Amino acid sequence: MSTNDPAEASLPQGWPDIGTIERLANQFFQAPPGAPASIPSTDSLDPLNPLGGTASPLIGIPGEGELRELLAQFVPAGTSAPPVAAPPYYFLEYAAPEFPSAAAVVPSTTGREPLDVLQIRRDFPILQERVNGRPLIWLDNAATTQKPQSVIDRLKYFYEHENSNIHRAAHELAARATDAYEQAREKVRGFLNASSAKEIVFVRGATEAINLVAQSWGRQHIGPDDEILITWLEHHANIVPWQQLATEKGARLKVVPVDDSGQVLLDAYGKLLGPRTKLVSFTQVSNALGIVTPAKQIIEGARSVGAKVLLDGAQAVSHMRIDVQDLNPDWYVFSGHKVFAPTGIGVLYGKEELLNEMQPWQGGGNMIKDVTFERTTYQPAPLRFEAGTGNIGDAVGLGAAIDYVSRIGMERIGEHEHQLMLYATRLLNEIPGLRLIGTAPDKAGALSFVINGLRTEDIGSALNQEGIAVRAGHHCAQPILRRFGVESTVRPSLALYNTCADIDALVAALSRIAGGRNPSIT
Ligand code: ALA
Repeated sequence: MSTNDPAEASLPQGWPDIGTIERLANQFFQAPPGAPASIPSTDSLDPLNPLGGTASPLIGIPGEGELRELLAQFVPAGTSAPPVAAPPYYFLEYAAPEFPSAAAVVPSTTGREPLDVLQIRRDFPILQERVNGRPLIWLDNAATTQKPQSVIDRLKYFYEHENSNIHRAAHELAARATDAYEQAREKVRGFLNASSAKEIVFVRGATEAINLVAQSWGRQHIGPDDEILITWLEHHANIVPWQQLATEKGARLKVVPVDDSGQVLLDAYGKLLGPRTKLVSFTQVSNALGIVTPAKQIIEGARSVGAKVLLDGAQAVSHMRIDVQDLNPDWYVFSGHKVFAPTGIGVLYGKEELLNEMQPWQGGGNMIKDVTFERTTYQPAPLRFEAGTGNIGDAVGLGAAIDYVSRIGMERIGEHEHQLMLYATRLLNEIPGLRLIGTAPDKAGALSFVINGLRTEDIGSALNQEGIAVRAGHHCAQPILRRFGVESTVRPSLALYNTCADIDALVAALSRIAGGRNPSIT
């Protein structure tokens, strides 16, 4: 196939062309007697749909499943497909020829079947968008994740067949909507391994959940000279509500420092804990640096002084399995849109007894048992915290997103992303002048860096020119960036649909951008 071929020219840069795929596929093809000695030329195949049929057009390289399917087409009828050696992890993606350093294959370390990422990519229609003439490479997952077709379809179905307000009306659609909403609550319960759906409160997102706890439990229980502990890694949403509460109540906000790799200093934490510590509120994964904090140890420390614990899972839920009974925080919060669900829906998990001791923070319909002009009695949790008409449709969408990741398996997602994180870290470190911020070994989701001589916003814009979406800025976490002497970073962030080819494209673009930098900017 000539390089002037328009079909080949339209293939995304940085991904193997059809010829390379053919060569690699042949390496895995052991022809049985009577079969052609090699896979016939793919010139006759439509490069955007080599398997024919009605499958969505391929963007990118085939996954293992597709290659097996492709190989099977060339086996004569009546014989079974030749055994194909279990492929090493990402055997195609790691073979990108323009990155020799990437040639080493990384086997799956757990024996789990690796993700067929190309198959997964087809579940996300937006990944077929083109931006500035290039295929979109979405590496802004810490800001928000893209939505699979199953979530989009579930929302459509809800509005076409189920839409109604819930809990109040005695008609068919009210029953359907209520069932769908409560089923979503049950799905969240299972996702977090909470012991009861009564522990799951639907809110707008992690920010609202933290504010709810601050305004309800915090105003009831925090007094003068009490201490609230957070870590240096926190998002503004886990700083500002506690600062506001501390100012109102005359309490103190104390901050657990991190070491030069960005990891929480447990010794220093131990010294900050004391009889005045009433609450420890911290993130499970840093949104700005991707550091995974030692959540269990931090929670055990808080327990040793009788403090309550809020764990911010906004950046954890799409990367790892969460078990609130094992972790044992008092509250766990997350936003649906970080885990492939719509925006405007999130979750506050709280221990049932504690939720029922907490005063409602908003009054209105839905959350009451009885109202007179003299006095109101409240529903038990979770309804006491769900005043007014909630985001019913998007809660149902969150249920569909949970179904989606659960079908794939959080462990497999975590392993895939771990390999990507190692791969990206290695390649980014090879770019001259690039400084990764947050180098602790335990990381998930996000990588943060600066490049000598380049402004972060310029890097973000230059990447956008190549269709690559990252966040450049302070990531709503100014204190942790200042701890490392910077006001902003570039932050690529990963999800289950990202591939080594995405990282290759990022690294190639950054190498070009860094090559043209102005050394007077540091
Ligand atoms: N909290 C989101 C982020 O880190 C918006 O980008």
